[in-house]
This record gives sequence, C-alpha cells and structure tokens, in this order.
Amino acid sequence: MSDLKIPVAPNSPLDVSTERDLSSLGTVGPVSLGCWRLTGSDDENIAIVSTAVDLGMTLLDNADVYGLNWGGTHFGACEEALGRVFDSVPGLRDRIVLASKGGIIPGVPYDSSADYLIEACEASLRRMNVDVIDLYQIHRPDMFTHPEEIAQAFTTLRTRGLIRECGVSNYTVPQTLALNGFLDSGLATSQPQFSATHLDPMRDGTFDLCMEAAITPLAWSPLAGGRIATGDDVRPELLTVLDELALRENVTRSAIAIAFVLAHPARPVAIVGTTQTHRLYELAKATSVHLTRTDVYRIVQASEGIPLP
Ligand SMILES: NC(=O)c1ccc[n+]([C@@H]2O[C@H](COP(=O)([O-])OP(=O)(O)OC[C@H]3O[C@@H](n4cnc5c(N)ncnc54)[C@H](OP(=O)(O)O)[C@@H]3O)[C@@H](O)[C@H]2O)c1
Repeated sequence: MSDLKIPVAPNSPLDVSTERDLSSLGTVGPVSLGCWRLTGSDDENIAIVSTAVDLGMTLLDNADVYGLNWGGTHFGACEEALGRVFDSVPGLRDRIVLASKGGIIPGVPYDSSADYLIEACEASLRRMNVDVIDLYQIHRPDMFTHPEEIAQAFTTLRTRGLIRECGVSNYTVPQTLALNGFLDSGLATSQPQFSATHLDPMRDGTFDLCMEAAITPLAWSPLAGGRIATGDDVRPELLTVLDELALRENVTRSAIAIAFVLAHPARPVAIVGTTQTHRLYELAKATSVHLTRTDVYRIVQASEGIPLP
C-alpha cells in the first residue's frame, strides 16, 4: 500500500524585514513615515522625522492637503513643516525617498487635469524647498480626467526633472490599469488603506495587480489610525489574537499589526503616522517579528469574524 501521509507544511516565518524596491528610486525601509499628522512644533517634527530615518524608515509620505486637520492650520502646512525639517537637518533630504501627493482641492473636487497637477506639483516643491519630488502620487482618483491626460502630466513633470517616479492612491484596480497603460515606464506605487482591520486590498485585486505589474503598495493607516493600538471599535477576537502574538514575540500589539501588513507577498511598505518618537522604536520592531501562515490566517479570520472555509 502507498504511503498516504499528508505532508506537514513547514509553516516557516513570512518575510517582514526585507527592504522594498521602488523602481529607479532604489530601496526603502519596509516601515516608513507619513506626514499627515506632522503638525507639532519644528523641534518635535525634527525629532520624529530624524528618528524615523535613523530607524530605517526611509520613505517620507506627504501631501499638499496635509495640514488641514490634526491641529494643522492650512493646506500645505505639512509640506512646509517637512521643508523646515530638511532646512534644519543637513543631509537628511538625500537619505530619503520623498513622496508627496496632489489632486485634491480641499474636500472636493478632485482635480487631476494636467494643468492642475503640474501647478500643484510645482507648489509642493516650493513648500518643501526641494528641487525634485522622488515619488509624486495622485491622492484620489478624478473620475472626470482621462487617464491619458494624467499620464501626459506625469511625463511632463518627469521630463522637466521635477519628479522621478509616479504613483496613485485610493485607485481601483481598473483605474490603475487604465493609467498604467498610458505610462511608458509604469506606476511605481499604489497607496491603498490596508491594516489588520481593513483587508480590502488583499481581496479586491489591488495587491494582485501590484505583484503582476511590479507596483509597490504603500499601506496607509496600517494601525487603522491608532484604533488597533487603543482597541477602540476593533473586534475583540482580533485584539485577542494580536495580543497573544505580541506576548509570544515580546513586542507590542501595534508591532504585530505592522508585521501583518508587511507579511503580504506584494511587499507593502507600512506608512505609519505616529508623532511620538518612542512609538517609532516600538513599531520598528515589526521587522524582527516571526509570523507564520498559521498566524496571519488567524488574524484574517479574527478580523473578518468568520472562519475561512
Ligand atoms: N492616501 C491617503 O488617502 C491617506 C489617508 C490617510 C493616511 N495616509 C498616509 O498614511 C500615513 C499614516 O496614517 P495614520 O496616521 O492614520 O497611520 P496609523 O499609524 O494607522 O495611525 C497613527 C495614529 O495612531 C495613533 N496611535 C495611538 N497609539 C499608537 C501606538 N501605540 N503606536 C502608534 N500609533 C498610535 C497615533 O497617535 P500618536 O501620534 O499619539 O502616536 C496616530 O494618531 C499618513 O501620515 C499619510 O502619509 C494616506
């Protein structure tokens, strides 16, 4: 009789530590820093950005609209704040991949017309006091601009040396494909919301397209805007699983949640948004966590509240 033993999967740890490839921009840390909440004093902003970069969080994600909330005062305020950080810390700008976004006129409308995007990008460059934005992204899809026009705007910005690579945020898969098809060198990134409480990109094709087309996902609000840390409005069974893994790995629940984001084979960058330097140290430990398939499928099931078939 043949040996009918079911093979035992090794259940080896998933990769959460390797640097992420960003096309011509080289590599960035798997955990990186967002500037949405960069509304503190200049000294606080210097501390948070410098600490992040020293910890290997080498992509900084900004947007022209950041500064309108979280204690900010106006459109453009977080880009201006980051520009002052660059002015104060010599050499910092050259150690990072600088990302920003345009295309939202506060609230609505969204505007990705070529004229608007080019002007918005020029204004972002002035506010951050830099010559080039490494990664320029459309913040939200403008359904009333043809993707070919957006591609032409990106090409113009690139030809003028104002941007190096381009990306999108909050785009559907068909929107991403349509724009990508008009670009000679393709999109470098796609920035969806993704966390242990928000799994859509794993299921709506976003991450599959990223893997197929060599687009790097940048996961926004990887701690669900802090809810995973505080536990507010998060399924208790998800908190239980994250806490068990945190105890096993000797890190915080937040570090486990970030490691979960990093474990997907699309190799997302987790764009964290804390304004507290001590939390950056805690989150950086996500890259040394050992998560197996058993662990990540426990998180998925606890997140959705239904067992997988
Ligand atoms: N493309 C888009 O449409 C879009 C939308 C939203 C965000 N983003 C990007 O994603 C970045 C991150 O978003 P996010 O700020 O919502 O990310 P997040 O890392 O999920 O949340 C950060 C928030 O959680 C709070 N928090 C509470 N306890 C924490 C803990 N133990 N550890 C860490 N944080 C804790 C932080 O407060 P403290 O400051 O007190 O630590 C902060 O307010 C933004 O800066 C932006 O670059 C993009």
